[in-house]
Amino acid sequence: MCGIVGAIAPQDVSPVLVEGLRRLEYRGYDSTGVAVAPQAGTLCLRRAVGKVAMLQQRLDAAPCAGPIGIAHSRWATHGGVTEANAHPHVSGDRIALIHNGIIENYVELRSELVAQGYAFASETDTEVIAHLVHDHVKQGLDLTVAVQQAVRRLTGAYAIVVFDAQQPDRIVVARIASPLVVGLAEGANYVASDVQALLPVTKRFQFLEEGDVADIRRDSVTIFDADGHPVQRPVHESSLSADAVERGEYAHYMLKEIHEQPRAIADTLSERIVSDHVLEAAFGPRAAQVLPLVQQVHIVACGTSYHAGLVARYYLEQGARIPCTVEVASEYRYRNPVVMPGTLFLAISQSGETADTLAALREARKLGYVATAAICNVPESSLVRESDLVLMTRAGPEIGVASTKAFTTQLAALGLLGLAIAQRRGIDRRIVALYTRQMRQVPEMVEHTLKLDAAIRGWAQAFSDKHHALFLGRGPTWPIAMEGALKLKEISYIHAEAYAAGELKHGPLALVDHDMPVIAVAPNNTLLEKLKSNLQEVRARGGRLFVFADPNTGIEPSEGVDVITMPDHIEPLQAPLVYTIPLQLLSYHVAVLRGTDVDQPRNLAKSVTVE
Ligand code: G6P
Repeated sequence: MCGIVGAIAPQDVSPVLVEGLRRLEYRGYDSTGVAVAPQAGTLCLRRAVGKVAMLQQRLDAAPCAGPIGIAHSRWATHGGVTEANAHPHVSGDRIALIHNGIIENYVELRSELVAQGYAFASETDTEVIAHLVHDHVKQGLDLTVAVQQAVRRLTGAYAIVVFDAQQPDRIVVARIASPLVVGLAEGANYVASDVQALLPVTKRFQFLEEGDVADIRRDSVTIFDADGHPVQRPVHESSLSADAVERGEYAHYMLKEIHEQPRAIADTLSERIVSDHVLEAAFGPRAAQVLPLVQQVHIVACGTSYHAGLVARYYLEQGARIPCTVEVASEYRYRNPVVMPGTLFLAISQSGETADTLAALREARKLGYVATAAICNVPESSLVRESDLVLMTRAGPEIGVASTKAFTTQLAALGLLGLAIAQRRGIDRRIVALYTRQMRQVPEMVEHTLKLDAAIRGWAQAFSDKHHALFLGRGPTWPIAMEGALKLKEISYIHAEAYAAGELKHGPLALVDHDMPVIAVAPNNTLLEKLKSNLQEVRARGGRLFVFADPNTGIEPSEGVDVITMPDHIEPLQAPLVYTIPLQLLSYHVAVLRGTDVDQPRNLAKSVTVE
């Protein structure tokens, strides 16, 4: 999703702006731009289609230096991927503006502004805001007031950052439904869509709230709430280091993040299990009051996080014996669901800023849930701020667009939630103790599984020229097959579908032939014999099987059947986490062979802050 950076400092800010964009590259984008005021009255604008490197080339050829500026990476919503549609958008050679979000009433505003004589240079919804602000400034309004008035006309979602080259003494920003963070430094101040953009210049941040407008100058930041009253927002000290987002020795962030999983899962579990017991306080101060009231759980999420929710249903129903439904947020928010007394609403989101998930949470708050809860990886995200109970995953920043460590840490967190609810529901303490021990073993098992990397890379060749692939699983590893198929689609662009293996005969079997690789996850559980029969159905139709199998399944390599043996003694609770790893590695190696952009796959964004 669009990335935003702004800076006002005593020296040239263009290097900070470009570095900020580079650090936001993981969000996904198709074009970039920067606007700087070298001195009062002049505006220097550079934009480029493609990567930040293209913008850098433009700037190297024709520098744009000055003490105030804004920069943007765009993920197209309104209007194609062209230089004219790239931000910043400019009005009257003086107002420069960048935006993340969608303005729903832009057509009507555009006609109004055209009637007033404004010429539009782009097809974007954003440009109307630049002209609206300009219109107010022309009428003599102070820039901050002009922005406050302009945003009152907007319907939709926005984080905007604007400055006036004629009076380059401040940057004014505003937000509704799209994140914005102000970075505070000595004699300089900054703004960005997330803290990672600004870590090289500051560790001190203020997170803007819904409807806030901020007037950011070199030596002051004044924040106004949605009613226009000055407000103080707390200053947070970030513990992230600037190099937390460096790739190090790894060829891609995705590979680095796959290998970080043992530590990330261990961090997510640590301090939350004490003597074979999950600490309820890990979910926040209200947990002790809320958990005893929970009679069922509604889980809502998008993408990979939705798959984590599907696994959680097994943890909650089979493990904690509590009813659970799981739904994608984009449907839930419009479905007007029936909520029975004692139902907990649980949103799962890596970023905590996904528009559909946030909208679902806000809808849920009106529906009589016993409480709302979030499992999230970003501490200051909107989702965390707005939920009653919160369990943070401790994956650290995830840069690769395709989610890896965020997913397995979500599974670990969901395991903890299942156990916390099981404790309250009087499930035998010995069983809870056994499960907590099993959870603690997961990081080591993941570590062992990562050693299969070379064998998995050996399989990748068989997929690199394929157009389709089928993933099969059963029980709690069915969602893992779904996640495996999603990973392959996302980064290698091979069409992949996942099925509960028992469902194969009800349709997808028609697709199976020698050209359709079938990947199966085969842990040793009560469904194993059934899964083996399903695999026979594939072989009987000439399908080629690639099986990740427990050593005790009796599934042996043979003509048309390739097998990679997983570590021994993976328990059913552990299997979803551990079997995820080979599927991530497989997608990764296939994508590398196919030469795709692994970390920033086409058309996708890390954090989808628009509906
Ligand atoms: C985007 C990302 C996915 C992610 C989904 C939900 O589509 O590309 O990787 O799973 O958003 O994101 P969230 O931050 O809510 O988990």
